[in-house]
Amino acid sequence: MKFLILALLNISLLLLIKSFTSLVLFSIFLSVSSFFLNNWLVPGGFAWRNHHGYSPLLRGPAGWPLLGVLPQMGSLAHRKLANLAVSLGATRLMALSLGTTRLIISSHPETAREILSGSSFSDRPIKESARLLMFERAIGFAPSGKYWRHLRRIAANHMFSPRRISCLEGLRRRVADEMAAEVRRAMEEKGVVELRKILQKGSLSNIIESVFGCSLEKEEELGLMVKEGCHKLSSKVRGIVGQIVQERKRSVAEVNNNGGNDFLSALLALPKEDQLSDSDMVAVLWEMIFRGTDTVAILLEWIMARMVLHQDIQAKVQQEIDACIGGGGGSATQVQDSHLQNLPYLQAVVKEVLRLHPPGPLLSWARLAIHDVHVGKCFIPAGTTAMVNMWAITHDPSIWKDPWTFRPERFLEEAEDVSIMGSDLRLAPFGSGRRVCPGKALGLATVHLWLARLLHRFRWLPAQQHVDLSETLRLSLEMKRPLACEVVPR
Ligand code: HEM
Repeated sequence: MKFLILALLNISLLLLIKSFTSLVLFSIFLSVSSFFLNNWLVPGGFAWRNHHGYSPLLRGPAGWPLLGVLPQMGSLAHRKLANLAVSLGATRLMALSLGTTRLIISSHPETAREILSGSSFSDRPIKESARLLMFERAIGFAPSGKYWRHLRRIAANHMFSPRRISCLEGLRRRVADEMAAEVRRAMEEKGVVELRKILQKGSLSNIIESVFGCSLEKEEELGLMVKEGCHKLSSKVRGIVGQIVQERKRSVAEVNNNGGNDFLSALLALPKEDQLSDSDMVAVLWEMIFRGTDTVAILLEWIMARMVLHQDIQAKVQQEIDACIGGGGGSATQVQDSHLQNLPYLQAVVKEVLRLHPPGPLLSWARLAIHDVHVGKCFIPAGTTAMVNMWAITHDPSIWKDPWTFRPERFLEEAEDVSIMGSDLRLAPFGSGRRVCPGKALGLATVHLWLARLLHRFRWLPAQQHVDLSETLRLSLEMKRPLACEVVPR
């Protein structure tokens, strides 16, 4: 009997402990869930957990706990973000969490202007990988203080000034000739032209020669480094570009002559008080190559894809070029920079491609709020990353009539000119405000001249497979599959 009572006591004690443990487990579960619900299910998600009380007007997806919308993004983030903004009624401003990063994104010209053109978002968020690449010493990632202003001034005077751009015309023409020769060779040997490699090679040698004043043995290696674009490269970049700087310094000292017309020579000839340290120089030089190569090649591939797809528009540009320089495609005269101002239809084609396929659909580089600020009526705390979805703006039917149709004429019919240089936020593929792309005029001069020359010399036709306009967002928005076409000399 005593044994039975003891056993019963033990069992009830065990049950008590068990239910106590379940109770404890249940209350832990409840507090963890309420922690997650409170911190995660706020507009914009986890990263906004401490701020949503201040910004009740902000809308945005909760996303995943801790990860935010990161798992949903993939290679078409610009499209997914545009759809999200429309479905949540948050095109003016949408709050998001990308992991633990607090983010706002504008898909509307008015809020885009507030973000890009004011002084509140004049820094850029910088990742560890960019820091390893010494990128915080380059123009694009330097905080917007004295050093950054100094770099912008040097680059504006010695790399991007109208005089410099015009001095480089001979180089652009020569590279255009080399690319045309490669196009002809590819057609003769393979019966098909894959333009991407030709454009990338041309764009790389163009920028390398304008930066260093000569072609380099290691050009191919630098090209691969531009493609890889990750932190593994930092020692390689320092090695190759640093060596070029050292060699040039030595040759300047030996020959006592710094008469080169390239960017490196200009940096070395700066007055003592303006001089950059060797490692800062490497960062700036590498940035020019890194930023100046792919953007131009990618944009030209999109333009040529459109030209192959829309044969009538291609013929119209060719007629415009023939009429401007006299004679047909076989004419001995070649297009030069001075002709470009008389080619409005060609310029409209470039604008229309920048509208439909902006190389930086999210303007590539985000901005960072340097202090608390209001965008519209929404309070945005300091340290928030801001992005503009330019792709969403340029595809918005309330801004553009038939936004999905490729129609360059739209720019010639508009009563007022749509500037693409940053003053009109309906189409600002180079960004806007104080951090607007400093290479925009050089980039456009290159694209216009090369396009005119390629269209003047050849008729571009589709190859066996149709033109595939699928896109993929890497550092820039690229064609997913390289364009393949056939050419006929004109
Ligand atoms: C089709 C050609 C190009 C496109 C579409 C393009 C686009 C852009 C965009 C969207 C930005 C960010 C602007 C902003 O935050 O408001 C930018 C910044 C920049 N781009 Fe370009 N770019 C092009 C060509 C070039 C070229 C040729 C160079 C140099 C050789 C260059 C150098 C830079 C630099 C240094 C910045 C950083 C500016 C700063 O933060 O102060 N870009 N570009």
